[in-house]
Amino acid sequence: MTSSNLQPDEPVNPQTDIFLRACYRQPVPYTPIWMMRQAGRYLPEYRALRSQYDFLTMLRTPELATEVTIQPVDIVGVDAAILFCDILVIPEAMGMELRFIEKQGPVFTDPLRSEHDIDQLKPVAPQEDLPYVMEAIRQIRAQLAGRVPLIGFAGSPWTLAAYMIEGQGSSHFRTLRRMLYAEPALLEKLLDKLTIAIAKFLQAQVEAGAQAIQIFDSWGGLLTREAYQYYSLPTIQRIIARLHRTANVPVILFSRGRGADLDLQMDSGADVLSVDWTIPIGKARQQVKEQVAIQGNLDPAALYAPPEILQEEAKSVLSGYGDGPGHIFNLGHGIFPDVPVEHVQALVEYVHNDRKNSHAN
Ligand code: CP3
Repeated sequence: MTSSNLQPDEPVNPQTDIFLRACYRQPVPYTPIWMMRQAGRYLPEYRALRSQYDFLTMLRTPELATEVTIQPVDIVGVDAAILFCDILVIPEAMGMELRFIEKQGPVFTDPLRSEHDIDQLKPVAPQEDLPYVMEAIRQIRAQLAGRVPLIGFAGSPWTLAAYMIEGQGSSHFRTLRRMLYAEPALLEKLLDKLTIAIAKFLQAQVEAGAQAIQIFDSWGGLLTREAYQYYSLPTIQRIIARLHRTANVPVILFSRGRGADLDLQMDSGADVLSVDWTIPIGKARQQVKEQVAIQGNLDPAALYAPPEILQEEAKSVLSGYGDGPGHIFNLGHGIFPDVPVEHVQALVEYVHNDRKNSHAN
């Protein structure tokens, strides 16, 4: 555990810990904001580095990962940094070959298709298998020098299983969903293995210096409520319980497409629930009954709008949440790679200046 880990009732440095305070529903002078996928292609500075190195080289080189992680803090003024890495490093550490195809994205050469494939997956020892992640975290913490907190992350077991079985992103994830109904025992075996690997990985990130953790359950929305409850939620609960036993950091759960199930998500043990733009944020707040903080939920496409319209959209998120603590401003999903940087900067400035909805009391 690092010395700057915040306890739920501990006074904090108001300049640097606004994001952490908001995670614990403490009063803050303004609403903190960060954006999913904030370290990325919409920044010319990112594209300049990316023209020299491929994506996987960048995330495996701590100096490059550090530089890219800090870019949005310097350039757009967000209140938290998120580690530059990818959710797919875990399947890779378990032995799957990961390639990154330009203009298409990540692809596993041999997707999982049988019990034998699942049995072949190796347990993950984060320090030995993913040393570059821990080194990047240490370098980022040193370079940030307390300016803003650093968020570590992993994919949820279900979301990682989706890519491992399908082999790549997909619009229907038919192979995955076939396994769910046709060979559920196989899926359960895989989810169990992933749960252990992810819990260890996140714990190692916290030990290296991550001050908050986000679990990306980006494909949680593919499941029925019952299947979410049976297959996905218990794995997330186990990961969060382990983190809370061993590390004093807030945990954010982003189950995309599951705004109708915030009651279930509250059982996950997460301190913060991140919601997409399909649920009004005020309704999300009402449903969690002041038990957890809410993160979200501007439609990422709103960043294409001219500044006046973008402001209106941001205002409706801020006022939709209303007064009182426990709101972290974010997008409902990742930032698009071609939005103008000036719009992103304007959004951050607008949220910071909106003191009347500051959630301070
Ligand atoms: O949020 C951040 O800025 C931190 C870094 C981060 C990346 N990926 C870098 C990245 C994080 C948190 C992720 C998480 C991630 N990776 C998720 C969950 C979040 C989500 O968007 O739902 C998923 C599903 C992945 C897997 C992945 N990585 C896909 C499907 C793709 C291709 C799509 C795309 O956006 O290009 C990636 C590539 C990726 N991950 C890029 C970045 C900056 C783009 C790489 C490039 O071309 O430079």
